[in-house]
Amino acid sequence: MIKMVHSYWAYLVLALLIVSFVTALIGTMQNKRFTDKNLRIFLFTLITSHIQLIIGFIAYYLSAFYETMRAVGMGEIMKMKEARLLMVEHPLMMIIAIVLITIGWSKHKKQTTDKGKFKTIAIFYGIALLLVLSRIPWTQWFAQ
Ligand code: HEM
Ligand code: HEM
Repeated sequence: MIKMVHSYWAYLVLALLIVSFVTALIGTMQNKRFTDKNLRIFLFTLITSHIQLIIGFIAYYLSAFYETMRAVGMGEIMKMKEARLLMVEHPLMMIIAIVLITIGWSKHKKQTTDKGKFKTIAIFYGIALLLVLSRIPWTQWFAQ
């Protein structure tokens, strides 16, 4: 159940992250005005990613892979490709990505120019997007 919520919520996080990044990139390059609509999209991306963080932690402790980890130990988990992805690489990378989104959001508020705001979001959300894409368990996600 929680795994399903985490799985569907991921579409929302990924879609918003892509929209935010593209919006910020275009805003930077074309010197666009930073509108309320832009602000709302960037904020929604932050909020949905924070919610995914919490759902992710619950999914972590309820996961069958977590059971396996408790049973065989960390050393063995590191040798198992799929379990290592879901118990180590994915959570770690996603936490770093969400931290970057949060820092980007926080820093953009301190920028005084519209270009500066867009640029800060483009950089931080952009790196976060790359990290997310690099460690989504694609085969498991699409196998559902
Ligand atoms: C941007 C944030 C995140 C995204 C986009 C994301 C996305 C996903 C996706 C697409 C899956 C595959 C779901 C499926 O089987 O259909 C997954 C699985 C999983 N995620 Fe995340 N996730 C994020 C953050 C996190 C965090 C922060 C944690 C833990 C602290 C976490 C823990 C897990 C676990 C444990 C699974 C595997 C569950 C299982 O197979 O038992 N995720 N995630
Ligand atoms: C473990 C869980 C969470 C952690 C560690 C966390 C951490 C943070 C941090 C450090 C900030 C500060 C960003 C700044 O400097 O402006 C922040 C902002 C924010 N968080 Fe979270 N958060 C979590 C969960 C949530 C949840 C569940 C929600 C929504 C339901 C949420 C919504 C927000 C919003 C709306 C802001 C931005 C406030 C603003 O600047 O307008 N967070 N969070």
